[in-house]
Amino acid sequence: MAVSSGFTGAKLENLLLLCNGSPSPSPSPAQSPSRASLSWSSPIGLPRRRSLAQRSVGVGVGFNRVVRCEVAASGLASDSPKVDTSSISALEQLKTSAADRYTKERSSIVVIGLSVHTTPVEMREKLAIPEAEWPRAIGELCGLNHIEEAAVLSTCNRMEIYVVALSQHRGVKEVTEWMSKTSGIPVSELCQHRFLLYNGDATQHLFEVSAGLDSLVLGEGQILAQVKQVVKVGQGVVGFGRNISGLFKHAITVGKRVRTETNIASGAVSVSSAAVELALMKIPEACHATARMVVIGAGKMGKLVIKHLVAKGCTKMVVVNRSEEKVAVIREEMKGVDIIYKPLTEMLKCAGEADVIFTSTASETPLFLKEHVETLPPVSSEVGGLRLFVDISVPRNVGSCVADVSTARVYNVDDLKEVVAANKEDRLRKAMEAQAIISEESKQFEAWRDSLETVPTIKKLRAYAERIRVVELEKCLSKMGDDIPKKTRRAVDDLSRGIVNKLLHGPMQHLRCDGTDGRTLNETLENMHALNRMFSLETEISLLEQKIRAKVEQIQK
Ligand SMILES: NC(=O)c1ccc[n+]([C@@H]2O[C@H](COP(=O)([O-])OP(=O)(O)OC[C@H]3O[C@@H](n4cnc5c(N)ncnc54)[C@H](OP(=O)(O)O)[C@@H]3O)[C@@H](O)[C@H]2O)c1
Repeated sequence: MAVSSGFTGAKLENLLLLCNGSPSPSPSPAQSPSRASLSWSSPIGLPRRRSLAQRSVGVGVGFNRVVRCEVAASGLASDSPKVDTSSISALEQLKTSAADRYTKERSSIVVIGLSVHTTPVEMREKLAIPEAEWPRAIGELCGLNHIEEAAVLSTCNRMEIYVVALSQHRGVKEVTEWMSKTSGIPVSELCQHRFLLYNGDATQHLFEVSAGLDSLVLGEGQILAQVKQVVKVGQGVVGFGRNISGLFKHAITVGKRVRTETNIASGAVSVSSAAVELALMKIPEACHATARMVVIGAGKMGKLVIKHLVAKGCTKMVVVNRSEEKVAVIREEMKGVDIIYKPLTEMLKCAGEADVIFTSTASETPLFLKEHVETLPPVSSEVGGLRLFVDISVPRNVGSCVADVSTARVYNVDDLKEVVAANKEDRLRKAMEAQAIISEESKQFEAWRDSLETVPTIKKLRAYAERIRVVELEKCLSKMGDDIPKKTRRAVDDLSRGIVNKLLHGPMQHLRCDGTDGRTLNETLENMHALNRMFSLETEISLLEQKIRAKVEQIQK
């Protein structure tokens, strides 16, 4: 029997048992309809495709229930005609039926996410993974039993893990446990905030993210740059595989298309412009041009904060950064603006001389704590008497304890909702324009994924033909005797190859399709099923075996 032959071992047994035999766990909080519907709402007010509860239940609890019913109904039966049920144990038959069912379903794309819409920054910052760590994270995720491919999208607004999972339910469980381990947040808490999306819904979600539809600041451009970065960093990383890299590359196309073909980016603001807007809302209008501004961090975000401050009429500011280079470049670009550079060692002194402090560094630990801020001199009552900290960093640069200082007010990325909540109708209209493109592109991506379905059949058909060729060639050569010249041997070998290749040419052509045309794709998939039936290619559980063998080999490396 294919399952037990040779390589299986404990790992395969575990996988097969997990896939079928273990009892269904009780639904997680995120799978409970009430909790799920509470914790998820479309940021742009568009109706979601299906409720989160529906999606989760269909995959988790429902999946297990179906598995157990089938086993109970069929008793020992397996629908694989090749299995001789009289000679194998009930346990082995159970495994076979599980494996069969397992392989008939293709791997799923799943996103396990916690975003600004479902999760507070206090939690997101613990989950954040710096860019340099993404390859390691992909490696660890793909080391999980049911994960084949992975990508990490970790930004200030979201922590989303995209995976290709051999089993949706087990994959989600493993990834959630991994997230818990890396962040220190208990699984139960993660489940209260996470959202789960599968296949078409996961694809559509990433496309919306890339288009800026899921951003706090609708249509902002940074998210597209971040999606591009996922692809750049993922290049060459084992585990950032064909499906996931295809998905992210397609998301870049969608992000670009939406921005060029719709109005989504017109007058688009960014996290940094919203931060400037928020600060100005909190100080008297008369001081907008005179308030003393300090920007800490001169990276992409710091630079944008400076630009927006200048656009609002600010002509003088202090920029604190570890090194001066980036500040010098910004100064060069912003002629006519008095940009004073200070090193990080003078940060507290600069903060004491400022009314508004913007923080936007990639520091992993807070730069300001309560004990620092309470010693700072007071701010003039003309500017409101309160020192404002506007922190757009994740992890945060200003410790939450600073909020306890009576002379300070602290705002973080989540507080930007106050600024971006305005103009809902405009947001909805722009989002509707983008949705048409996203639906079209989602269909195209699904078609491309479907076209990949034929790859195992192509491989199996080739292998099947090759096995026959080799056996028949051996028979023929043995009949010809030991002393046949090399040239003759080669000629016979070439003849057999030529015949096989010519015979396979037609079927292979009918199995290839790039997925761009729906009609051709359907025909191709029909051809695939026909060939599978004709040559009994599906009756072996070799696909599962291949997948698990690859997994085991990968883990053993
Ligand atoms: N990129 C976005 O779209 C976006 C949007 C919203 C919020 N954010 C958040 O904003 C922050 C900055 O992002 P970014 O895109 O501007 O990053 P970036 O371009 O990589 O710049 C990072 C900045 O942080 C400084 N820095 C790095 N490590 C530091 C440390 N240990 N102590 C002090 N300063 C340090 C760097 O200083 P040097 O110049 O000396 O290296 C640089 O100024 C991050 O927390 C990010 O999550 C980013």
